[in-house]
Amino acid sequence: MRMGSPVIIASERGEVGLVEAMRALRAGGSAMDAVEIALRAAEANEADHYVGVGGIPNLLGEVELDASIMDGSTLAAGAVGAVTGFPHPITIARAVCEQLPQHAMLVGRGAERFADECAIPRGTTLTEEAVRLWKEGLTPEALDEAERTQGAGETAYRRSVLARIQAMEPPHRHPWGTINVIALDGAGRLCTGVSTSGYPWKYPGRVGDSAVIGAGNYCDGRYGGAACTGRGELAIRAGTARTVVDGLADGLSPEEACVTALERTMSLADPFRAQVRTLCLTADGQHAGAATVTGATYGLMTGDHTEPEFLPRAVISNHFFIGVETGSQP
Ligand code: GLY
Repeated sequence: MRMGSPVIIASERGEVGLVEAMRALRAGGSAMDAVEIALRAAEANEADHYVGVGGIPNLLGEVELDASIMDGSTLAAGAVGAVTGFPHPITIARAVCEQLPQHAMLVGRGAERFADECAIPRGTTLTEEAVRLWKEGLTPEALDEAERTQGAGETAYRRSVLARIQAMEPPHRHPWGTINVIALDGAGRLCTGVSTSGYPWKYPGRVGDSAVIGAGNYCDGRYGGAACTGRGELAIRAGTARTVVDGLADGLSPEEACVTALERTMSLADPFRAQVRTLCLTADGQHAGAATVTGATYGLMTGDHTEPEFLPRAVISNHFFIGVETGSQP
C-alpha cells in the first residue's frame, strides 16, 4: 500500500496532544490511534477546565464527561455521555465503537459499567481548582443553597443555578470549550474525535453535541471529517457536523462547508447566544475552520511539522439570532 502524508488538526487547546499523535501517525499508526492519543492528552490537561480532568462540574458539583469517535472508513461510531469517575471518556467511546458494534452510544451508569468490563482505568476528575471556579460562578444564594442541601435537587437551588447559567456571559473570553481532533493517516483513513466536560453548572445528565454523531462529530472517509465546539444545543438542533460533511460532498471547499454549516446553525433562535465553531479535514488533506468571532484558530500538523502551526478560522458575520432578543453578541 502506498503511504500518503498524514495530517492532524485540532480545535483550540487540542494542540497539547498533537506532537505525540503525529509521532504515532509517522510511525504508521491509524487515524483512530492518533485521535485517541491527542484527546487523552487534552483530557489529562488539568489547566483546561472544559474537558476531562479539571473540567468544571455540573449543577450538583459532579464532573460529567461526554466524548465520541467516528471512523470515516466504515462510518462506525462510538459515543459516551454523562460519564463520571473516568478521566478518559474518549477511550470508552473508542471501546464502544470497536467492541460493542451493536450500539453507538452509552450514557451514565451503563457507560461506566462497560468501561469497567473493558478494564479502562477509573480516576479522579474533580480538581480543587475546578471546585474553586465552580463556587466562584455561583450566586451567593445558590452557593448557600448548595452548601445547605449538598445540591440534592432542591427546587430553589436548581432554579437559582439554572438562572445563573442563563444569565452567564457566554464564555468567549476564557480558555473554554470542547476539544475536536481530526486525523488523516498515511493509509488515507480519516477519523474524528471530540471530548468535553460540557457546560459548567449544567443540569445533571445534560449531554451535549460532543456525544451526538451528526451534531458535534461526523466523519465520512469519501469526503471528510467535521466537528464542533461551543453551544452544543445549537449543534444538536442543526446537525452541524453532518451539514459540514454534506457540504463537502456537494463540492464546497472546506472553508465554504464550515461557514455554510455555521451560518445555518447560528440562524436558529437561541436565548443563550453562545458561540459555535466548526472544523473540518478532507479526505485529501485540506482543512478549514469557522467561528463567530475574530481571532479564533485551529492547530495543524502534517508530516513536515515539528510543532503545531496555528491557522485562522473564517469568521461568519450573520450570526444574529432570529426570534429572540439578541442583546450583546460574543
Ligand atoms: N460543545 C460541547 C457542549 O455543548 O457540551
